[in-house]
Amino acid sequence: MDKIRWGVIGCGGIAARRTIPEFKQMVSNAEIVSVMDISADRAKQVAEQFDIPHFCDTEEELLARDIDAVYIATPQNVHASQTIQAAEAGKHILCEKPIAITVEEVARMEDACKKAGVKFMLAWCMRQNVYNKKARELVLSGDLGRIVMGRAQLTCWYPPIPNAWRQDVSISHGGALLDMGTHCLDMLEWIMDAKIVEVTGFQDLLVQKYRTQIEDTSTIVVRFSNGAHGIIDNYFNIPDAAARNSLEIFGTKGSIIAHGTIGQDPTGNMFSITQPDETGYNADQVRDVEANRQEYDFEGVGIYGQMITIFSDCILQDQAPPTNFADGRHSVRLVDAIYKSVAEKRVVQVEE
Ligand SMILES: NC(=O)c1ccc[n+]([C@@H]2O[C@H](COP(=O)([O-])OP(=O)(O)OC[C@H]3O[C@@H](n4cnc5c(N)ncnc54)[C@H](O)[C@@H]3O)[C@@H](O)[C@H]2O)c1
Repeated sequence: MDKIRWGVIGCGGIAARRTIPEFKQMVSNAEIVSVMDISADRAKQVAEQFDIPHFCDTEEELLARDIDAVYIATPQNVHASQTIQAAEAGKHILCEKPIAITVEEVARMEDACKKAGVKFMLAWCMRQNVYNKKARELVLSGDLGRIVMGRAQLTCWYPPIPNAWRQDVSISHGGALLDMGTHCLDMLEWIMDAKIVEVTGFQDLLVQKYRTQIEDTSTIVVRFSNGAHGIIDNYFNIPDAAARNSLEIFGTKGSIIAHGTIGQDPTGNMFSITQPDETGYNADQVRDVEANRQEYDFEGVGIYGQMITIFSDCILQDQAPPTNFADGRHSVRLVDAIYKSVAEKRVVQVEE
């Protein structure tokens, strides 16, 4: 086997806008042989658009085909049942975030994959952004000293849309935090190389008139296992052009300031400010920011295509995927702790 044969479950926004195009453009160790969507019209349209030989509208038909792996890009309330079904059919699984709704679902997904001996990877695509990788490298190198604070922001203007599943809490189970904040939480933990242990914050539905109650405004404060603090801010009510999607990391010897690296594009911009040693107290508060300022200029490589390549290699070489059920379970626990903290207006410890 030199190429992994893939099926896609869910041919909506992220699959058709990012993952399938990048798959077709840049992946050499895999091919898409079938797409499935609950809407046969949608599956047909995507198959035709991307020259994919087969489409269908049931999991059973897709999973009965000669495929090795599936990419699950459906609403999160069906990630668990589709993962279990795919595992029972012997297929490896790359699953979109959020992994599932509850830790019980994650446990059932993990059991099914273990029993079937198939691999599972959680689609934390933003770990593939070249600037985010550099940020992690700078933190791990110690160049920033002891990290004391990290901030991650991801927003989008998201007005009411009839029948949008994200705006129906019985399907989405959350708003801006669950949809976008989960990426930010993972980004900060991964770059700062520490887990979040305590959370608190505010969430509101300030602007948008959704048909059910989900937050369009989420501002969360966290403490990491190493003592550092963090801010995760996510909004469905800021114009896209106005938002910066900021990533900011501060330590005792410097900082990283990035914009646009948390998002679907593989690019962004970033600079760091570092000094070799902690300096003495400067009562004048003079900030010589230019002396040790470094700009980074990297070429972005599609982050969704990279995930397909990485997971296909894991299957071909029988290696463990870089993101797994432990990451997914932790993510669900973080989200649970945040919603609990907001509801109860208090600081909540993240369960381990
Ligand atoms: N990693 C990322 O950057 C990223 C970005 C966007 C979305 N996502 C995640 O991807 C998932 C899909 O989001 P989206 O924006 O593409 O949504 P979407 O609504 O644009 O697309 C979802 C598709 O799934 C289909 N569908 C719904 N129920 C189904 C079922 N039971 N079986 C098969 N198909 C079904 C719909 O018809 C639709 O075509 C979500 O979990 C979301 O959080 C991840």
